[in-house]
Amino acid sequence: MKTNHPLFSDHRFKLGMFCSNLDGGLSANVLPERWKANWDNCIELARRSDEAGLDVLVPASRWIGFGGAGYQEEGMESLIWAAALAHATERIALFSTVHVPMFHPILAGKQMAAIDQLLRGRYGLNIVCGWNQREAAMFGLRLHEHDKQYEQAQEWIDIVRSVWRRDGVPKDFEGTYYKLEQIHRVQGPAAYDGDPVIVNAAFSPRGREFAAKNCDFLLSSPSTLESARDEVTAIKDNAQALGHDTGVLSTCHIICRPTRAEAEEYRQHVLENADNEAADNELELMGLFNPRVNERGAGLGASETAGAKLTPEQYAEVRGRVITGHHSFPLVGSPDDVADGLVRMAEAGYSGAVFGLTNYLDELPLIRDEVLPRLEAKGLREPADALVSA
Ligand SMILES: Cc1cc2nc3c(=O)[nH]c(=O)nc-3n(C[C@H](O)[C@H](O)[C@H](O)COP(=O)(O)O)c2cc1C
Repeated sequence: MKTNHPLFSDHRFKLGMFCSNLDGGLSANVLPERWKANWDNCIELARRSDEAGLDVLVPASRWIGFGGAGYQEEGMESLIWAAALAHATERIALFSTVHVPMFHPILAGKQMAAIDQLLRGRYGLNIVCGWNQREAAMFGLRLHEHDKQYEQAQEWIDIVRSVWRRDGVPKDFEGTYYKLEQIHRVQGPAAYDGDPVIVNAAFSPRGREFAAKNCDFLLSSPSTLESARDEVTAIKDNAQALGHDTGVLSTCHIICRPTRAEAEEYRQHVLENADNEAADNELELMGLFNPRVNERGAGLGASETAGAKLTPEQYAEVRGRVITGHHSFPLVGSPDDVADGLVRMAEAGYSGAVFGLTNYLDELPLIRDEVLPRLEAKGLREPADALVSA
């Protein structure tokens, strides 16, 4: 384990941002202020997040976005993103989200070790297997059947780890998915002070078994704040039964405004200015799209999709969560409300949270100035100036 990694710092509750490397972030809207993940914004956000004392930036990985007005359509590939942000930051952890099928493990392993050196150990990997067949097809690949994806991921991470560490004799790897000869590191450094921190966002039993065996943290949104404790406990018990300690980081989308009324009003404004085409595409890919929900609400016949099994109210709720948060947990309200939600996650057993903002740069100051001090007052975090640079 890396001793100087921000996800193992003294903060009792770690805090960072998620998905700022993609257009829209976690919010499918057509507002003029929607997030644009160009280099100027990505670099400025990294700099300001670091100065604010946040612990981590976790990017997402997309090869095809959701269409419409361009939600998650463009953005930065996350290995190059992490490398590019290295010199704009001093303390914050930077991750890459890397797709097992799209990257050869030797190539990815070497690139990640080099980035980890550049960051002096404040690097991490979010390992994903891929779920969108269209993305795989663009690479000329077909995704394996679900559980086999995690078998491949196990071989992939074993090879990556040997690239991160190997300095001895070349070794062959004979697996089902990879048959590699003479693995060694001719070029490029080993990872800095131990393996990069590894996270994963699996949901299925097989995926969570993989996470428990291989990852330091699982990314997982609570269904509700009331059920959060049971959900985290189940994840941790499952990992412990497999002989590992796995922390859990919550993913959420924050809409914070000086008052609760303003925050709720802004959420409504985003919903009224949703990128509806992108949201429908996303729901369809998730198997939840229900084009006939309005007809159903009017008492007409139901369509066959899973979304059709939801009541119109439930469907509107799911759709709203997809538009404002990409299905992650919504924290909407005043600084007191947002801090309270995060405190409840900490009390439930989450090690921290990574969140999206509608416009990350515009909205960070209120989080920094009003939410962080409330978490400090609760003993969950230290003030930014009390932290030592890695
Ligand atoms: C917070 C979070 C972030 C994720 N990031 C990505 C990503 O960037 N790219 C991707 O292809 N999949 C991503 N996924 C999908 C997961 O890797 C995983 O495939 C999904 O949660 C389903 O779990 P399963 O593979 O165990 O069925 C993400 C999921 C979550 C919850």
